[in-house]
Amino acid sequence: MRNAAITGWGMYVPEQVLTNADLEQMVETSDEWIVSRTGIRERRLAAETDTTLAMSAQASRRAIEVAGIDPLDIDLIILATVTPDMFMPATASLLQTELGAHRAAAFDLAAACSGFVYALAVGSQFIQTGVHRNVLVVGTDALTRFIDFTDRGTCILFGDGSGAVVLQASDAEEGVLSNVLGSDGRGAQHLHIDGFASNGLFARNGNGGSVADEVGLQRTFMKMNGNEVYRFSVRVMGETAVEAVNKAGLRLGDIDWLIPHQANLRIIDAAARRLDLPRDRVWVNLDRYGNTSAASVPMCLAEAADSGKLQPGMNMVLVAFGAGLSWASSVVRWGATGVRTKANERDG
Ligand code: UT7
Repeated sequence: MRNAAITGWGMYVPEQVLTNADLEQMVETSDEWIVSRTGIRERRLAAETDTTLAMSAQASRRAIEVAGIDPLDIDLIILATVTPDMFMPATASLLQTELGAHRAAAFDLAAACSGFVYALAVGSQFIQTGVHRNVLVVGTDALTRFIDFTDRGTCILFGDGSGAVVLQASDAEEGVLSNVLGSDGRGAQHLHIDGFASNGLFARNGNGGSVADEVGLQRTFMKMNGNEVYRFSVRVMGETAVEAVNKAGLRLGDIDWLIPHQANLRIIDAAARRLDLPRDRVWVNLDRYGNTSAASVPMCLAEAADSGKLQPGMNMVLVAFGAGLSWASSVVRWGATGVRTKANERDG
């Protein structure tokens, strides 16, 4: 069976910075509270032009450039997002055209903050089973468009951004070694955005209107029960990370890096303790970007890769959790030593 190696990576964040000091002017909160409870200092806000498509294209172009492939070599694009540009078509299809990846199949995947790790699992299956050679996996969200900036329980947490990786077929012992995916819909009510969905609220009644029209529903915001999500995440991050390590046939001592979803520093610290990893082996950027949902793991991965701290042969655990409730983890071995791109295959 072929392996799926990560050979390209990229990220994009909007320019506009929203600091804790800015939030102090908007809601009853303080920099001290936000930093001590979450670790977040600032986050980025998508401008009007920073659509999910636009942000995805920026991150993807960089990933394709790093991988050194032609967009026409891409067989499949999976875009993990819960903030697509429109209901249909899939934003992944728009991205395909934007990138000139005209040969690629394309679809969106919705698993909230777990979305990128879910998409990595799906993409790597297509490579491991020999169906595809080159897969672009993207995680992008513009959640601040659905945040109520009078709700201090949510508005301090989220930011916008995008991260992307190129997965390529490899004959070496590298790339995605294991995946764990999970979901428990009994916790769906703890984290949700109701509007703009084809649920009953929008169903047409006999007069051609809908409940949404009757109650004057114009815009819906994220609702979150922070304590419930916190308790769930502290348990599930560590458990699912360890499960992925076991599935990869490795021991905790074999893990060099933790690349976790960036929701709350206390949640990340709990996962690191469970994996027995010191802080300097855990990638953290939530102080600068907050929780960027599906983008957080690939953004961390791109930063870590650009830093040069990931050496070939190093093992890392990617782990995320989010609305669903959902969770996902992967063990990835860094390095792309066994990859034959079309170009160097021709060269022999
Ligand atoms: O990708 C998944 C997305 N969601 C998450 O990851 C959320 C996970 N949950 C969390 O990160 C934490 O639960 C929060 C950061 C959201 C909240 O932290 P907490 O330590 O669980 O605080 P709490 O909700 O228990 O609130 C403690 C106090 C309350 O005041 P009282 O009732 O003790 O007087 C809150 O009203 O802090 C108050 N509070 C705030 N104070 C200042 C809540 N939000 C704020 C705020 N600024 N922004």
